[in-house]
Amino acid sequence: MPATPSSDLLVITCASGKQATALLPLLSNWARLRLVAHSPSSASALRDSYPDAEVVTADLAIPADCHRVLLGATCVYHIGPSFHPNEAAIGTVGNPISPSKHNTEPLRQNMIEAALSLPKSHFRHFVYSSVLHSRLRKLMNHDCKRYVEEALTESSLPYTILQPTHFMDMFPIAKLQSSPDPEITYTSNWNPDIEFTFVALSDLAAAAKVVLEERERHFYASYELVGTDKLTYREISGIAGEIIGKKVRVEKRESEEATEALLGMLFAGNEGEIDNRTRDGAERLILYYNRRGLVGNKNILTWLIGREPMSWREWAEGKTDVERKKLVGV
Ligand SMILES: NC(=O)c1ccc[n+]([C@@H]2O[C@H](COP(=O)([O-])OP(=O)(O)OC[C@H]3O[C@@H](n4cnc5c(N)ncnc54)[C@H](OP(=O)(O)O)[C@@H]3O)[C@@H](O)[C@H]2O)c1
Repeated sequence: MPATPSSDLLVITCASGKQATALLPLLSNWARLRLVAHSPSSASALRDSYPDAEVVTADLAIPADCHRVLLGATCVYHIGPSFHPNEAAIGTVGNPISPSKHNTEPLRQNMIEAALSLPKSHFRHFVYSSVLHSRLRKLMNHDCKRYVEEALTESSLPYTILQPTHFMDMFPIAKLQSSPDPEITYTSNWNPDIEFTFVALSDLAAAAKVVLEERERHFYASYELVGTDKLTYREISGIAGEIIGKKVRVEKRESEEATEALLGMLFAGNEGEIDNRTRDGAERLILYYNRRGLVGNKNILTWLIGREPMSWREWAEGKTDVERKKLVGV
């Protein structure tokens, strides 16, 4: 059965984050949305943007909060907070990172436990936004999602797992465009000659909408979501330069500095409160990307959204167009 957006209650976690910000405008046909923020300031911004939605604050590391946010839900779109020190262990019983060799106990995760406590006749779909290649154990923020995926697969809940690759929207094209200099420098956090595949947040949102609304057709599926062929940061900087009409020189940050830059981008203003385990995750990501990048295949996303995903050039042209219009006040 597909979803019934006129009456189903859809809960979205990390509703103030990048993924949900792209998804929410596509869900205007959903009459009942519960948006979960962590900070009061994000909750207030969500209330301003979505006055018809119910907005709640919660700490997903607290089991009681997860139960509270899922009360009465028909379905959930669960996004985990970036580099949260307890992302896998969010409510996991025991230590999932070093279970005993023969530990076959199913893992327990807050949001999954909370969904399992709801009446089966009422709760219909758990959609988990994971990451491409959650099997990569060297990447701590991928590895922890592997445990959540395992717990979900064994949970008996009707679920779908989305596995997006690297977001193209992290590239600061608007900043490069607004520089008055004809020749600018893009400083990459990792080796600019290593290949990545990217996905536009708008295409990830389009895929999420299809999965949420078609619902049963996607039960028990895991979808790798990739929008482009392989590209290096030097190549995308070149494309950006062509679009904004400037020469873009590419430099690479040293790893320690790159870790700080990444954390600064994700936790702007709260850098003083960053947990060491969050820092560990960011450091590993920088070192991994520096040598290996992140590469997948776009077939599944193309099938799911019924069209070619956005290319990096199309995304950049769209972004710069928006900035140009802002500058001339259109
Ligand atoms: N960046 C990429 O290229 C990429 C690619 C694939 C997957 N991912 C995954 O995407 C996920 C993050 O999604 P995003 O980029 O949309 O988020 P984001 O923009 O990094 O925002 C973080 C979100 O987490 C919320 N949050 C922080 N701590 C919380 C807590 N204790 N309890 C509840 N909510 C909390 C924040 O709420 P407040 O605003 O209220 O603080 C905010 O909504 C991560 O799991 C990441 O691994 C990222």
